[in-house]
Parts: sequence; C-alpha cells; structure tokens
Amino acid sequence: MGVPHPKLSAHDLTRTFGRGPGAVDALGPVELSIPTGEFACVVGPSGCGKSTLLRIAAGLLRPSTGTLEIRTASPRPAAMIFQDYGIYDWKTVRANVRFGLDVQRVPRRTADARVDDWLARTGLGDFADAYPATLSGGMRQRVAIARALAVEPEVLLMDEPFAALDAQLRTILQDELLELTQATRTTTLFITHSLEEAIVLGDRVLVMSARPGRIIAEHRPPFPRPRTGDIRATPQFTALRGELWDLLRREAVPT
Ligand SMILES: Nc1ncnc2c1ncn2[C@@H]1O[C@H](COP(=O)(O)OP(=O)(O)O)[C@@H](O)[C@H]1O
Ligand SMILES: [Mg+2]
Repeated sequence: MGVPHPKLSAHDLTRTFGRGPGAVDALGPVELSIPTGEFACVVGPSGCGKSTLLRIAAGLLRPSTGTLEIRTASPRPAAMIFQDYGIYDWKTVRANVRFGLDVQRVPRRTADARVDDWLARTGLGDFADAYPATLSGGMRQRVAIARALAVEPEVLLMDEPFAALDAQLRTILQDELLELTQATRTTTLFITHSLEEAIVLGDRVLVMSARPGRIIAEHRPPFPRPRTGDIRATPQFTALRGELWDLLRREAVPT
C-alpha cells in the first residue's frame, strides 16, 4: 500500500542560461508532482520559464540543478505538442498522424487502425490525404493533437498549443481536448498563459511567479469530471478566474 508514485515529479529544479554576470536565471526552484491521470495546467507571465520547464520535461534541455523524473510503465515516450505545431509540411495528414507509430515500430495493421481512429476522432477523416499547408490553423492543430495522442503516450506535454489561434477556434479546440483527454485519462502537463484555458482543462491549476518561475499557488477548479465547456458560464468559474488573475497580475507587473 502507501502513496502511489507520481507519474511526473520535479524536485528542486532550476535552470540558468549562460554564466557569469550575463547569466539568466530562467526557472525555479520548482517542486512539482503530477499523479497518474491528472491534467495539470501551469499558468504564468510571459518569460517566466514555462517553456523551459516543458523542455526539461521533454528531455530537450538539462536542468542546472535538481531533477525532473517521468516514471513510465512502458517504453512509450512522452508526447509533445508545441505552439507552432511541429507537423511536417511534406507529409500528408495521415502520414503525420502515423509518424510516431512508425517510430515506435507499431505493426502496420495496428497502426493503420489506430491512425484511422484518431483521424475520425479529431474530425480529420476527410483530410487524410491532404498536405498540412492546405489546411487552416485549427485543422493543423488537430493534426498535431491526433499525432500526439495516436502514440497513446503515458504523459502528454503541451506548450501553449492554442496560443496562435483566434478566440473562437481556441474555445472549440479546448472543448475537443477536454473530451479527448477525459476519455483517455492521459497524464498531462499543459502550459498556457490563459487562465480561462487552465480552469476549463485542468484538474489542477499551478500558478508560476515571474522569472525565475516558481510555483506560487495551486487551485483545483471545483468542476467534477466529466465536465464540458459550459462551466465557463458559471459563477464559480468567474470567481476562480478573478482570484487567479489577482495573483498573476501582481507577478506580471514589473517591480
Ligand atoms: N536557450 C536560451 N538561452 C538563453 N536564454 C533563454 C533560452 N531559453 C529561454 N531563455 C530565457 O529564459 C527565460 C524564460 O524563457 P521561457 O521558458 O521561454 O519563458 P516562457 O515560456 O514562460 O515565456 C526568458 O528570459 C528567456 O529569454
Ligand atoms: Mg513559452
């Protein structure tokens, strides 16, 4: 018995860029623990170290001190989605969604079935043979989501995936992501600078300070699962957004 191990844990994590008088303390120290199945959102002011945290989690960057550990039960990698999508313009939509499965050497027939399933679930079925350059921003973002989820990652890492989209499309994709992740219960670390987005999506909202980013507050939006985007219209939503905004505003104002 005892407490289960977290899926992702960071301890005393910091990152500094450069050295000497020009060094930039970008992050930390951060303590973070994300249990299996949790959707954790991190919000913070611009430049506070959010992408640095995500890149360390993804193994793209080393910590300066401390540790970040992802405990997976299988050899499946964590999957990442960046703001600029990171999809390949020279591959069709189907080939993009298939990409991670080929890397994992998933057998052909299993991979075909899974790709078809994710194309359908993300509304891309009719665009399977199209090239990304011919698609709208929202469709391209769906390709990135389908590609990440198709590998059935144990941990999903997302860095402001909807930041470049207009408000309406953003809302639609938030609702879609809510539905998809509630079905899969994938452990997720989701970075955003939007409080609304964090409250709609998160089991937990972690607020970061200005650079070097530390976690200064944590809230659990009081909306049971499965939830829908309708919670945006509730008084509890407005109240929590106000409370978190007060915190963030203090961090965003230069002192
Ligand atoms: N590769 C790098 N070299 C030097 N400084 C960097 C590098 N990456 C990020 N930084 C700096 O670290 C700080 C945090 O950056 P970042 O993690 O991208 O913030 P956020 O994603 O919260 O906007 C910023 O001051 C940024 O300029
Ligand atoms: Mg960033």
